[in-house]
Amino acid sequence: MKEIFEKLKSHKTKLAVVGLGYVGLPLAHAFSEKYEVVGFDINQDKIDLLKRGIDPTGEISDSNLKNCRIDFSTDPNKLKDCKFIVVAVPTPVDKHKRPDLNPLKMSSKIVGANMPRGSIVVYESTVYPGVTEDECVPLLEKHSGMRYLKDFKVGYSPERINPGDRIHCLHTITKIVSGCDLEALELVTSVYKSILETEVYKSSSIKVAEAAKVIENTQRDVNIALMNELAIIFHRLGIDTLEVLRAAGTKWNFLKFFPGLVGGHCIDVDPYYLTYKAQEVGYHPEVILSGRRINDAMGKFVAENTVKKLIQVGKTVKNAKILVLGVTFKENVCDVRNSKVVDIINELSEYLMQALVYDPFANAEEVRREYGFDIIQSIDSMDNVDAIIFAVPHKRLVKEFAVEKLIGLCKKDTTPVIIDIKGVFEPSMVQNHGAKYWRLWPALINPLVAYHTYLKILKNNCKHLMKKKIDQKSHREKEYLCLGFTETHQS
Ligand SMILES: NC(=O)c1ccc[n+]([C@@H]2O[C@H](COP(=O)([O-])OP(=O)(O)OC[C@H]3O[C@@H](n4cnc5c(N)ncnc54)[C@H](O)[C@@H]3O)[C@@H](O)[C@H]2O)c1
Repeated sequence: MKEIFEKLKSHKTKLAVVGLGYVGLPLAHAFSEKYEVVGFDINQDKIDLLKRGIDPTGEISDSNLKNCRIDFSTDPNKLKDCKFIVVAVPTPVDKHKRPDLNPLKMSSKIVGANMPRGSIVVYESTVYPGVTEDECVPLLEKHSGMRYLKDFKVGYSPERINPGDRIHCLHTITKIVSGCDLEALELVTSVYKSILETEVYKSSSIKVAEAAKVIENTQRDVNIALMNELAIIFHRLGIDTLEVLRAAGTKWNFLKFFPGLVGGHCIDVDPYYLTYKAQEVGYHPEVILSGRRINDAMGKFVAENTVKKLIQVGKTVKNAKILVLGVTFKENVCDVRNSKVVDIINELSEYLMQALVYDPFANAEEVRREYGFDIIQSIDSMDNVDAIIFAVPHKRLVKEFAVEKLIGLCKKDTTPVIIDIKGVFEPSMVQNHGAKYWRLWPALINPLVAYHTYLKILKNNCKHLMKKKIDQKSHREKEYLCLGFTETHQS
């Protein structure tokens, strides 16, 4: 097993990444700077795009992709030359919120049928504790005809990347590694260490590593749920949630979380993996599942508040035209899977309102396929909407839509309603234009205070390289950093 690392370095064996999505592609790209890499995926369209130097996820630039030496393929035979195989396929939930292990099982069958004797398979997909050894290993054994631990080994290294986040990326975040035995652990450690600028953390077992990943997102989910519940309470009490969080935040151990929509395919999916396993062993989680219920209901909460504001300004709800800005699951990414903005849109249609959705980042075809509605391509001639929900503040949208422009899109001679989910505007900026304003998230804190806090954090925690990268960021991004937004609401 030890010789695999030497063979990788001398290009006498190859490394494969199975599943080339948000996780797999950046990994394959990083490994390809050192080793011969096969990039395997079952999606022929994706492979064709990657071969042309186009990353549909937008994580790797076209030029970087064109210049890399990854052998992209849908041919499983290519795995026969690879002794180090990384699996990064999706682990979604089904419509009953139960783990759907089909992609993981299917990839294990493919890998099992093709991996050479003496190889190691490292899983990166997020799972509940036990999946690698109890679900994947038997399939690898069955389809390879080889014996676990004797003829092949496994490892697990959970992924923490955060699409759209250029600070916390593959090279700069601590990576947890684990192996089925000491030899496997050492090999996985060496191979991952060779592409990272930071440390690897050696987990004591595969199950511990699997559990660590799944609780990282569960912890976020529960904490955001608490903030969402507080926001609902404070809205009823007529208190600004931001003011409360500012005041409470002066205590040294008050945690920095904020209310918001929890979408995507990590924070709002991973907790179900843990609760599924907990229930299997006879424990019925209370806190985790109630947090999930609160977070899942936030789209409805935003829609209901839109309705209230329309009524308060004397507008008719039925047939009201609502412009929704942004539909991806978070800002600056094109991924629309599990977007909670769609919950808002669905709820608006329950009130017979008409949602017009604009998002220059989202792929129109994917939106139609996933959700059955069309996004509008241009809003240039728009001047008749009753309310605007600024749902996803992509940098480009924030730049493009000043308050004046938003107001110009609204019906004349009526009071415009601006629903600013993430607090892009100061309330007074909108109210000065005679519009009704509502926000879920707190507005950002004073940039100067934020910048000093940021410098302090930087001094304490960040390495020189990261500092250089962060220094180039805009003030607004620094504010987000200080407030922990990138950590709080993203995968
Ligand atoms: N996206 C994130 O931010 C993130 C962060 C941390 C962890 N994760 C976890 O990493 C895993 C992968 O997530 P992702 O976002 O990269 O998924 P993704 O959907 O972006 O990409 C998965 C890729 O796997 C391919 N695939 C599916 N079945 C396959 C099979 N049998 N054989 C080969 N390829 C197959 C798909 O075609 C797709 O290209 C998941 O478990 C996810 O929970 C994701």
